[in-house]
Amino acid sequence: MSKVSVVGAGFYGSTTALRLAQYNIFDTVVLTDIVEGKSEGLALDMNQSRPIEGFETKIIGATTTADGAGYEATANSDVVVITAGLPRKPGMSRMDLIGVNAGIVRGVAENIAKHSPNAVVIVVSNPLDEMTALTQLATGFPKNRVMGQAGMLDTARFTNFVAEKLGVSVGSVKTLTLGSHGDTMVPVPSHCTVDGVALAEKLSAEEIEELVVRTRNGGAEIVALLKTGSAYYAPSAAAARMAKAVFEDSGAVMPVCAWVDGEYGITGVYLGVEAELGRTGIRKIVETKLTPSELSELKAAAEAVRAKQADVQSL
Ligand code: LAC
Repeated sequence: MSKVSVVGAGFYGSTTALRLAQYNIFDTVVLTDIVEGKSEGLALDMNQSRPIEGFETKIIGATTTADGAGYEATANSDVVVITAGLPRKPGMSRMDLIGVNAGIVRGVAENIAKHSPNAVVIVVSNPLDEMTALTQLATGFPKNRVMGQAGMLDTARFTNFVAEKLGVSVGSVKTLTLGSHGDTMVPVPSHCTVDGVALAEKLSAEEIEELVVRTRNGGAEIVALLKTGSAYYAPSAAAARMAKAVFEDSGAVMPVCAWVDGEYGITGVYLGVEAELGRTGIRKIVETKLTPSELSELKAAAEAVRAKQADVQSL
C-alpha cells in the first residue's frame, strides 16, 4: 500500500494533499493537523470530490497532539511533506519565523522518524533552508532522504514573470534559480531562455534585474496582498511534483534544497541546487555550468545559509 503523508492542514498542506490525491498514483494520502477535526473534515470533503474528478486515492485525515498521538495514521509513509509551522505576516521575513517554527518542525520530524523510518521527507516550512537542515538533524535520516522545496517555486515565479513581460507562453520560457529561499536566492541568467534564445537577447539587464527582484520578493508580495497567510497554489504545485518524482522514481532534475558536499566547491550545507530525484530521495546533485559571478553568488548564499543552519541545532 503506497502512502504519502502531509503534515499540516493549512492552505499549503491541504492543497498539496489534494494535488497528490488527484495524481491518482498513491493508495492513500494522509493529512494531519493539530487542530482537532480539521484534517478529518478536509479529508471527507476531498474524498467526496473523487467521483467528480475521477481519482481513487483515498484521503485520510488525522488529528495529532504535541505528545505524538495521531501520527500512527502516517505510519510507513513512502514520502512525507512537512508543511507545519506558521506562515509570515505582512512585513515579516521568512527568517523571523525561525524560533517558533524550529520548535514545531523538530517535534514533527521526530514523530515522522519514529513512524516512517524509511520515508523520503520534503520540507516546505520556513525559513526553508534552515528547517530542512533541522529536519535532517531531528530525524537522523541520511541527508539524501531529506530535501526542501523552494527552487521549483522561485523558478516558476521567475518563469511566469518573464512570460508575462514578453507576452509569450510559460512553456516557451526556461529559467533557473539556485541558492537560498530568501535574500540570497541566486538567479542564473546564463540558463534562462525563451524558445531557446538567451533571455539577455530578449530583455535588457535592467528589465531582467527587475524581474529577479520581484521573484526574490515573490512570497512577500503575496503575503502583503493576502494579509493573513502566505502563498500556496504555486508552492503546493512544486511540493507535489517533488513528491511525485520521488515516488515514481522518475529521475527528474529539479531545483531543490539539497545537501551539498563538494559540488561547486561548497562543503556541507543544505542549499538550493539542481538535483535528480528518485525513491532514494536525492539521487545526485546535478552541477550546472555557472558563470564566475553566478558561482560566487552561490558560494555567498551557501555561507549565509550555513551560519543560520548552525543556529538551528540549538533551537
Ligand atoms: C513563499 C513561501 C511559501 O515563497 O515561502 O511563498
